[in-house]
Amino acid sequence: MAFKLEKVIPWGRSLKEYVGMFALTTDNFKVKILDCAGGPASFNTEMTRQGYQVISCDPIYQFRANEIAQRIQETYQTVVDGVKANRENYNWQNAQSPEQLGQIRMLAMQQFLEDLPLGIQQERYINGELPVLPFQNSQFELALCSHFLFTYSDLLSQKFHLASILELCRVADEVRIFPLLNISGEPSLLLPWVMSELEAQNYRVEIKQVPYEFQKGGNQMLRVWKD
Ligand SMILES: C[S@@+](CC[C@H](N)C(=O)[O-])C[C@H]1O[C@@H](n2cnc3c(N)ncnc32)[C@H](O)[C@@H]1O
Repeated sequence: MAFKLEKVIPWGRSLKEYVGMFALTTDNFKVKILDCAGGPASFNTEMTRQGYQVISCDPIYQFRANEIAQRIQETYQTVVDGVKANRENYNWQNAQSPEQLGQIRMLAMQQFLEDLPLGIQQERYINGELPVLPFQNSQFELALCSHFLFTYSDLLSQKFHLASILELCRVADEVRIFPLLNISGEPSLLLPWVMSELEAQNYRVEIKQVPYEFQKGGNQMLRVWKD
């Protein structure tokens, strides 16, 4: 089935947020990184500017910057209003209000939109969709996946989650997924089954606390790797 932009609510995070969400160190910066479900995050843009190597993958990269920009305009207020209606579920140390959060995210998304045409030419933004990725085995040392797997636990099956994580493990030596909460801010019920299936297939799994917590209780990532 064709991927529809009308189904996506684009919302992109910055390099600073990725560093917190995935507890990234300066050593991590130096390896080949895949940002899967990267969407309109500015992680790729900001890392590239600093001379690091990031490839982002998302089905929205089949669309042009102006089409994605229009979709951002259409959905922006709905997202800010949604956060406003549930503001007690979030921590407000960094962004002080839903409006300020919106401005921070918009800045990240604008950087992404400006970078997209060049990034497509340079093959830094690749149109691709889990659970099958257009990359070679072990092409990356680190794969990151923010706010897609486990976030949409109510929409995407446990089989989809397992197949997607195995695919990320095929293309990268280590996989990090954040957060481990669903969209309502509750711990994903899929996590225990997915972790035990990965262990049964000889993967190492670890839940690690990270220094980022915007959704209350959302301060853990899943690490998966093979010795
Ligand atoms: C909430 S956004 C997260 C963007 C970014 N990672 C961040 O944290 O700022 C989720 C992204 O998942 C992408 N997506 C949807 N289905 C996907 C799939 N099957 N495989 C990979 N990405 C997908 C959407 O296009 C969207 O850009």
